[in-house]
Amino acid sequence: MKCRVCRGPAVIDVRRHNAAFCRDHFVVHCREQVRRALSDHHMLGPDDRVLVAVSGGKDSLALWDLLVELGAAPDGLYLGLGIGEYSDESGQYARAFADARGLTLHEVDLGADWGFTVPDAAAATRRVPCSACGLSKRHLFNTFALEHGYDVVATGHNLDDEAAVLLGNVLRWDVEYLRRQAPVLPTAPGFVRKVKPLVRLGEREMAAYCVLQRIDYQVEECPMAAGNRHLRFKDVLNSLEDSSPGTKAAFVQGFIERGHAYFDDDQTDASPDLRRCAECGAPTTAEVCAFCRLRVRATRS
Ligand code: AMP
Ligand code: FES
Ligand code: ZN
Ligand code: ZN
Repeated sequence: MKCRVCRGPAVIDVRRHNAAFCRDHFVVHCREQVRRALSDHHMLGPDDRVLVAVSGGKDSLALWDLLVELGAAPDGLYLGLGIGEYSDESGQYARAFADARGLTLHEVDLGADWGFTVPDAAAATRRVPCSACGLSKRHLFNTFALEHGYDVVATGHNLDDEAAVLLGNVLRWDVEYLRRQAPVLPTAPGFVRKVKPLVRLGEREMAAYCVLQRIDYQVEECPMAAGNRHLRFKDVLNSLEDSSPGTKAAFVQGFIERGHAYFDDDQTDASPDLRRCAECGAPTTAEVCAFCRLRVRATRS
């Protein structure tokens, strides 16, 4: 196996590109994919203050590294979800990465700062933990960014994540989620821009990037996500990808380029009848926002 660029010995092949790369050219390949995502979707303006949501996993640490290399000067935000040892370790990986590179990592702790953890919320709502977890993440990333003057929040959602979510949304024809599934959600009143610069890179590429760049990351998956439907969708997509490399990228890129427009009347996070949450001031369609309602339920029990 030879590197597509220099013909030296390759360390990884990327079947959907029908290419193999040596270490250095693989790193260049990843950077180029992120650079293309940033420019195709106008993700970052020249003076934007960028906040990367860092979970301590491979995707978000690789993203932080890549955005630093590309000159975006991003800071990080780690959210402690209170999921036992998994969260303790995830935080340590995020801190170690930031310390070694002299980067700024902000931290918000759901338990210490808001009085409840993801397991508390799951018990109180009797729903899958991921829904309280996702709701808390969206709310706290946005609020933190707004309060600290960041223009944009970047997350490490990769091609596999986007393909699995897209499959789930299509299987249910969930038109509202399809409308909101985009590599960029623009700024709107009460919302900073959200971007996903890894949409062109798969899970396996991100793991290889971390290994080759000597980035230590939390390898464990979240114990509360075990058996969730997105993991099952990933298995299905991996078997399709095995027999037909390029399936995931065609599915996701095709949706972005040709499918999304059919669902999209307004690409922002905002819905027309938004007002301010009576508790925290966040935009909401109800009297009190979903995060504040969750907090009340989860801290009561
Ligand atoms: P997930 O929802 O776990 O698939 O994570 C998707 C993205 O959300 C990650 O790539 C991170 O950018 C961000 N994220 C997830 N968990 C955390 C966390 N605990 N703190 C900060 N960002 C996170
Ligand atoms: Fe949110 Fe596991 S990371 S429930
Ligand atoms: Zn090479
Ligand atoms: Zn609120």
